[in-house]
Amino acid sequence: MSGRANRLADGRIGRFGVKARVADLDTFSAEAFQGDMGLTSPRVPSEVANPDGLTDDLRPGVDLSDEVVRATAGYVRRLAIPARSGLSAEGRRRYEQAGCSGCHVPSMATRADFPVAAMAGREAALYSDLLLHDMGDALADGIAGEGIATEREWRTAPLLGMRFFRSFLHDGRARSIEEAIRLHGGEGSGAAAAFEAMSPADRAALVDFVRRL
Ligand code: HEC
Repeated sequence: MSGRANRLADGRIGRFGVKARVADLDTFSAEAFQGDMGLTSPRVPSEVANPDGLTDDLRPGVDLSDEVVRATAGYVRRLAIPARSGLSAEGRRRYEQAGCSGCHVPSMATRADFPVAAMAGREAALYSDLLLHDMGDALADGIAGEGIATEREWRTAPLLGMRFFRSFLHDGRARSIEEAIRLHGGEGSGAAAAFEAMSPADRAALVDFVRRL
């Protein structure tokens, strides 16, 4: 595995977004308000233009204060990882055996000096290394230039609340956990092959483990 951190123009490491394009949740929230909802704020003050080049909002000034953006990000930051139960030792063994944990790293520690005391020095069972991996041509999106990420590179998707998902991978092309695994190319192709080589019972144990994460 040769994952790499998405180093942004300002030197920080990107961790949020499918290409780890954004370094912090305040920025991510401001960009989502603007890009997804058309709501501008001091960090992202430009209106989104429609296809004719017109902006849809003639109101002068920004729509939201930075305080609202930071409060929204603070809420998202504190959302708990969905509760997990029934994870089997057998499933975990198969997960390790297939090499999933090489990228979907079970746990990472937060910084000891993280500014929110309740979240400092804590283990977070993300099941991701938050690094970029080359996932091959079939998953490439033709978009480069998000930090250092190439068109074939994706941030290891955290495996959180998988039981609530109805579609998987960055564009939702996979309809099941099995299909998502089989579509791992590039650096992920070894794990996909190891999964394929397992007995049906071992595959089922692995998938059941991932579904409960
Ligand atoms: C080389 C690193 C790597 C390995 C090894 C790997 N994955 Fe992934 N995985 C990724 C990346 C990167 C993505 C995101 C790809 C995308 O969105 O197109 C991903 C996406 C997924 C998803 C979809 C999650 C979502 O939010 O849609 C699942 C499920 C998954 N992996 C499970 C597994 C399992 C199970 C294994 C072991 C059999 C495995 N992965 C091995 C890197 C890896």
